[in-house]
Parts: sequence; C-alpha cells; structure tokens
Amino acid sequence: MTKAPQPRSPRLHTPKRSVSIVGTGSYVPERVVTNADLEKLVETSDEWIVTRTGIRERRIAAADEYTSDMGAKAAQAAMDQAGIGPEEIDLILVATVSPDMAFPSTACFVQKIIGAKNAACFDISAACSGFLYAIEIAQQFIMSQTYNTVLVIGSEKLSTLVDWTDRNTCVLFGDGAGAAILRNRKGAHGVITTYMGSDGDFSDILLMPGGGCRVPITKDNVEQRLNTIKMSGKEVYKQAVNVMLKAAQTALSQAGLKSEDLACIIPHQANVRIIEAIAERMNVPMDRFFINLERYGNTSAASVAVALDEANRSGRMKIGDYVLLIVFGGGLTWASSVIQW
Ligand code: UT7
Repeated sequence: MTKAPQPRSPRLHTPKRSVSIVGTGSYVPERVVTNADLEKLVETSDEWIVTRTGIRERRIAAADEYTSDMGAKAAQAAMDQAGIGPEEIDLILVATVSPDMAFPSTACFVQKIIGAKNAACFDISAACSGFLYAIEIAQQFIMSQTYNTVLVIGSEKLSTLVDWTDRNTCVLFGDGAGAAILRNRKGAHGVITTYMGSDGDFSDILLMPGGGCRVPITKDNVEQRLNTIKMSGKEVYKQAVNVMLKAAQTALSQAGLKSEDLACIIPHQANVRIIEAIAERMNVPMDRFFINLERYGNTSAASVAVALDEANRSGRMKIGDYVLLIVFGGGLTWASSVIQW
C-alpha cells in the first residue's frame, strides 16, 4: 500500500439554522480489565501496553449487556441533561461496528428501550468515525428542517469481536457508549462545521472479514477466527496520523479558525502516541487534548462520544469555546467537526 489517502475538497457548510448539542451522556460497563489481567491471557506486559499505547485498563460488558443496552443508558443520561422526554426525539442514529444483530438496527432496539415512539431509526457503519458521521447526518436533517431533535449514539461491544488470543489487537479495545442530543436552538452556539472522508483502497488494513456475505458464519470460518478484528497496526498508525491531521486542518479552514483558537481537542482515543504525533504537527500543547484512553482503550464509535461527554461534564469546555473533534477508523474513514460550545 503506497498511496496516502487524500481528503476530498472541503465542502463548505453555511448553516442556515444553529444546530446545538443540548445534552451528552455516556455509559461504560462495570467490569474493569487491567493490563495485568491481560498478562494472564496472552504474552504481553503492562509496560509494553502502556508505553506503546497509553492504555492501562478497559471496560468489558457483561454477557447479557448488549450494544443497545449501553447505548440506551448513554442516551438516557443525554436526555436527562437536555431535559427532554423520549417522545420528543425525531431520529435515532446509532454508530456501531458491533450491532446487536445484522438487523433490525441497534437504533430500533434503543428506541424500544427508551420508548422514543416518534423516532425514525437507523445505524451508521463507519467504524471508529461513526459518531462524527452521525453528527453530520443529524446536522443536515436539522438544517433542512426535516427533524428538530436527533439522538446520536456511538456504542460498541467490541469484546465480542476481539480475538482474545491475538496480542496485537486484544490489548487495544474496550466496550462502552456515548450519546448526544442535537437540536436547533435559535441564536445559540453550535456545530460550526463538519467534514467526512473515506478511502476504500485501504479497506484491508483494519477489518473483520467474517460474518457478512463474503465470509459467512460457518464452523470453519469461526474456527479460523475470521469473525474477529484483523489489523495491520503499523499501517493503520501511519494513516491515522495522516488523515486525522488533514481532517483537523480541513475543519479549521472551513470554520475560518487557527489551531490556537481551540480551547479543547477531542480526538479518537486509539493510542496516545497517535495523539502526540498530531499535537506536535498541529503545534498544539498536549494539555489542550482531552484524553481518557488510559481508562477505556479504543471503544471505536463510542470513543469520541464518551470523551465528549466526560469533557462536557467535567467543565472542560466553557460557553463560547471552540472545540475540535477528530476521528479516523476502518474503511478508511475519517471525520472532523468544529463546535462552538
Ligand atoms: O481505531 C483504530 C484502531 N487501531 C489503531 O489505532 C492502531 C494503530 N496502531 C498502533 O496503535 C500500533 O501500531 C500498535 C499499538 C498496534 C503496535 O505498536 P507498534 O509500536 O507499531 O508495535 P509493532 O506492531 O511494531 O510491534 C512491535 C513488537 C512486535 O514484536 P517483534 O516482531 O518486534 O518481535 C510485536 O509482535 O511488539 C510485539 N507486540 C507485543 N508485545 C507485547 C505486539 N503486540 C504486543 C503486545 N504485547 N500486546
């Protein structure tokens, strides 16, 4: 693989309505699995995991706790913060690579749990970029005046997709969910710009080959662990730095801002070394980045969603602050958004 993915030409947004995040929520399962616990499963060490990734522990969902259950808990927290009831939600978007089932959508299961009877529901498949893809879709529906209130969720039970015998991947991932409620709020601050990109030429560097129509679930395929995450770590690392940086620059230029205008940057929580490389290239100090990966590992579509909620609840963003969200994931996919809090 030699070609570097290039973000497409920026598509400028001139929002006709102000689309605000009026509530956030998150949920992580109770069970903590530390690096020391993983030392008992595969040949690894706390020292290797911490120095190569920054991850110290992750959460693992209970056997009977599903992506929809975690998503619904995060959604309820976001609804409580926004002060809205389930019947006010017009659309539910769930970004996930670990849906409850191939169909119905996990969004429909969330709808049932929270009782959002008036909502249309569908899932977004954009791997770790899914939450920001969903934010952009929500923004478009609100700006076009199709819907008023959109519930966006990133939720993952990656522990069911991980090969627990593969030390290259099993130390990286965790379970959890984050949610945000988006609404038109007259004259208020909100989502200034969003940007999404993809490059299918890189589909082979991070994938789960089994479980779809190409590699159906058969005894042989399962025995070969084809229904688990496969990753070329080094290649993903290289492309991650490249596309997240370009996504950041594109969103900043669309918003007419410079990196020094940002009060907080919330990046995909995959590896602290990726974040450090981006901080250096953007010339932004690390303390401007919100990082929680040491506690949760990489939770794919939930990653930035959980971080956004934790940053919000900890008072990290003040009214009027510019916040940049940047993600990348399997596909390849990438996305960014500038929000005025
Ligand atoms: O949402 C996107 C998801 N993915 C990512 O963001 C992943 C991006 N990539 C990365 O974060 C890094 O490439 C990794 C953390 C996955 C790996 O770090 P690295 O510095 O690129 O290590 P490496 O793959 O070059 O492996 C170095 C050595 C290898 O041993 P040899 O061949 O040098 O003897 C690996 O076998 O480390 C070995 N290794 C491990 N050792 C202990 C790989 N995994 C482990 C492990 N414990 N868990």
